[in-house]
Amino acid sequence: MKSSKPPFETTTLWDFPTQNYGSRPHGDNKFRGVTPAFIIWNLLQRYTNEGDLVVDPMCGSGTTIDVAKELNRHVIGYDIAPYRDDIIQNDARNIPLKDNSVDFVFIDSPYSNNIEYSDHPADIGKISCEREEFFDELDKVAKEIHRILKYGKAMAWLIGDHWRKKSGFIPVGFKLYQILLKYFKTIDIICIVRRHQRSNTPIWHERAKKFNFYLRGFKYLFIMKKLKADS
Ligand SMILES: C[S@@+](CC[C@H](N)C(=O)[O-])C[C@H]1O[C@@H](n2cnc3c(N)ncnc32)[C@H](O)[C@@H]1O
Repeated sequence: MKSSKPPFETTTLWDFPTQNYGSRPHGDNKFRGVTPAFIIWNLLQRYTNEGDLVVDPMCGSGTTIDVAKELNRHVIGYDIAPYRDDIIQNDARNIPLKDNSVDFVFIDSPYSNNIEYSDHPADIGKISCEREEFFDELDKVAKEIHRILKYGKAMAWLIGDHWRKKSGFIPVGFKLYQILLKYFKTIDIICIVRRHQRSNTPIWHERAKKFNFYLRGFKYLFIMKKLKADS
């Protein structure tokens, strides 16, 4: 019998061998770009209490909903292309919630146009991170998260960098972090070990050697706080 709880992380390096924990699914591990459920579990342990309202503006296959419900948190999951019936169709740049009304926000946004999530024209994952427009759109999402969050409460954003043959390295994480600093104060930055990547094959490792580039080995988890109105 698998343990029903993942380990409580105490360092800034989080590694977990599987997307799911316990015997029930959290999200769908067949969904491309699914978030490892242990990340959300750890965040909810530290930054929320039972009965709090948790929001995920880009909920994908619903991992945040499943983890939050199991921990007795209220939860609202939105996505531009809902994957299940309990996800509300909505654009993350305009969230239909009041100012200062949410206790915690988790978001795992597109990192570029590397995954085709849906045909929806408002999918930010249709824009390449090689274009400034990609970061302008993430800025609108960050501003909206800041608006709905209560003062003193936290949000966490998972994102990874890119390497493209044409453009080379694109520091997606650092660029997003610069944006987040306009709205939030940093609580901490966690390094998440990347696993189960499609590029984790002998062919890709050979290419990385031959063309002298690195395969992505980690993602950033930016944990940020909305400051009190008077601070
Ligand atoms: C990395 S996936 C999220 C994975 C999710 N946390 C899970 O565990 O399944 C990113 C999601 O962002 C959604 N998305 C892209 N643009 C969006 C937008 N403008 N508003 C809301 N959701 C959007 C995509 O449809 C996709 O489901």
